[in-house]
Amino acid sequence: MQKILVARPIFPDVIERLKQYFDVDWNQGDVLPADEFTRRLADRDGALTAGDPVGAAVLAAAPRLRVVSNMAVGYNNFDMAAFNAANVLGTNTPDVLNESTADFGWALMMAAARRIAESEHWLRAGKWEKWAYDAFLGGDLYGSTLGVIGMGRIGQALARRAKGFNMQVIYHNRSRVAPEIEAELNAEYVSKQDLLRRADHVVLVLPYTQENHHTIGAAELALMKPSATLTNIARGGIVDDAALVEALRSKQIAAAGLDVFEGEPKLNPDLLTVPNVVLTPHIASATEATRRAMANLAADNLIAALGEGPRAGRPPNPINPEVIGRARS
Ligand code: GLV
Repeated sequence: MQKILVARPIFPDVIERLKQYFDVDWNQGDVLPADEFTRRLADRDGALTAGDPVGAAVLAAAPRLRVVSNMAVGYNNFDMAAFNAANVLGTNTPDVLNESTADFGWALMMAAARRIAESEHWLRAGKWEKWAYDAFLGGDLYGSTLGVIGMGRIGQALARRAKGFNMQVIYHNRSRVAPEIEAELNAEYVSKQDLLRRADHVVLVLPYTQENHHTIGAAELALMKPSATLTNIARGGIVDDAALVEALRSKQIAAAGLDVFEGEPKLNPDLLTVPNVVLTPHIASATEATRRAMANLAADNLIAALGEGPRAGRPPNPINPEVIGRARS
C-alpha cells in the first residue's frame, strides 16, 4: 500500500475513504511545525495539506513524494518551481467553493458598509440608550459601484450577485475576461487606479503571488473615496495591513472587511484597535457543504494522482499537469 500524510484534521469520513487505498498518517492535532511536517513526509508517496508550506527542502527530504494535494483553491503555500524541478504534482480544489466564497464576500462587504459588527459590539457593550438619526450611518450598496480586483471564477460569482443590487460593476484583472462574460456580468474593464477612484466598494479576489504583494498599499488607499469600503477574501499580503490600519484610523476610507491577514493566524494587533473593520478568521469557504466538497475533491486528487480509484492517473485538478507520468527527480 502506498503511504500518505494528511497534515491537518479533516472530516473523518474522508480519512476513511483514503484508508481504502492508502496507509494513512493523519495529524489530528495542531498545525505541524515545519521540521515535524518534513520528518513525517520522509517515507510518504503523497500528502494532503491545507496551506502548509511545501518547497524545495521539504521535497528533497521526501524522495518518494509524488503528489501534494492542497485543500484550498489558493496554493501560494506551494513553491511550484520546486514542484516542477522535482517532478512532483500539486493539486488544488477550485470551483466547489466559488459560490460560498462569493456569498461571504458579500456578507463582509455589507457588514463593513452598514457597520454591522461595529454596531453589534456597541450594543453588546450596553451602550444603546436611545434612537439617534445619525447612529452608525453607513454607505449604500444598492445602486452603488462595485469594484472587483481579480475577475476569476470567484470574482465572477461575486459580480454576478451585483445585479440584484442594481450595482455598476467595474473590474481589474491581469487580463480582460471574455467579451461574453463581460456582457453577462455587465462589467467594465478598467485600470487598477480607475477602479480605486471610482468604486464605492472594492473587493479583492486575486491569488497571492510575488507580483500581487501589497496590491493595496498606502498609495492605492489614497486613491479611494472616503466613503468607500475595502473587502479582502483572497489572501493576506495582498493588502499592506499596516497601511490599511492608518487609512481606517484617519477615515481615508470608510470601512474594511478582512477574512485574511498578513502572517495569519497572527494579525497586526493594530487592526484590533480600529472599530471600522470587520475581522473574520479565514472562513469565506466555510459552509458544511463546501468544506466537505473541498475535502472530498482533495482526496479525489490524491487518490487519482497516486494511480488509484476510478480516475487513476487523471486527477481532476492538476496545477502542473506536465509532470504527470514523469519519474520523480
Ligand atoms: C482558501 O483560502 C482557499 O484558497 O481555498
